Amino acid sequence: MSATIIDGKAIAAELRARIAKQVETLKRDQGITPGLAVVLVGEDPASQIYVRSKGKQTVEAGMQSFEHKLDPDASEEDLLALIRRLNDDPAVHGILVQLPLPNHLDEDLVINTIAPEKDVDGFHISNVGLLGTGQKSMVPCTPLGCLMMLRAHHGSLSGMDAVVIGRSNIVGKPMAQLLLGDSCTVTIAHSRTKDLADVVRRADIVVAAVGRPQMVPGDWIKPGATVIDVGINRIVDDTGTTRLVGDCDFDTCAAIAGAITPVPGGVGPMTIACLLANTLTACCRANG
Ligand code: GUN
Repeated sequence: MSATIIDGKAIAAELRARIAKQVETLKRDQGITPGLAVVLVGEDPASQIYVRSKGKQTVEAGMQSFEHKLDPDASEEDLLALIRRLNDDPAVHGILVQLPLPNHLDEDLVINTIAPEKDVDGFHISNVGLLGTGQKSMVPCTPLGCLMMLRAHHGSLSGMDAVVIGRSNIVGKPMAQLLLGDSCTVTIAHSRTKDLADVVRRADIVVAAVGRPQMVPGDWIKPGATVIDVGINRIVDDTGTTRLVGDCDFDTCAAIAGAITPVPGGVGPMTIACLLANTLTACCRANG
């Protein structure tokens, strides 16, 4: 293995420590405690784990955590009423509705009911538009975490060729906008992209966000490129053991890349740290 490991766990720990210090100052000097409300509809096991982890880290940063759990068959009306209540609650500075939602709920309507200034996920259509036009917005947490790791490793990204594999609203599209904002030349690749291997081979930066275990092999990577692996996939390996792997085949990619994020311990910890950063930002903006 030749690649430098970009240690998301360590970078996230530093970020959380900086946030906790700022929260302490905010409490001491202004008597304000940032508050994050997380809404979970249903009992999806993965979502339950994420929500628990978000709540725990929110409290550890000195913020208030408000958890709202709704039944899997909760009505859209009830969910929208809860969001409106949270919009009006001055103790709540950030609101996150855990996705995916059960099929009977309109995800776009739900997200766009969150007050844009409390939309710490950055999914509201106003925030999407602000990001796309380079204006001050709430930036989605996972791509923001990826950008922070890239900046930590490279400093400036200006002029680099970046390929984002995956075109989701949560990761792929906002990631491309952020890289463009840092003056990369950006390609968004997806399931219909022709000659994907050749496209990826041109990239100085590869961000893989497709949700397919070990899809990107090392021989797609340009020697010395930086690989950011957003995938978190559970697989049963040859020995019958269940383990987490990314969208990139770590061993073969690490042999060719200049730097790579591990799974776990790369993008994952950065996502929650960025959620706390966005909550603090929302709180500071709300209090002038
Ligand atoms: N489900 C998977 N990722 C995310 C995320 O970043 N935010 C929300 N709200 N739900 C998710």
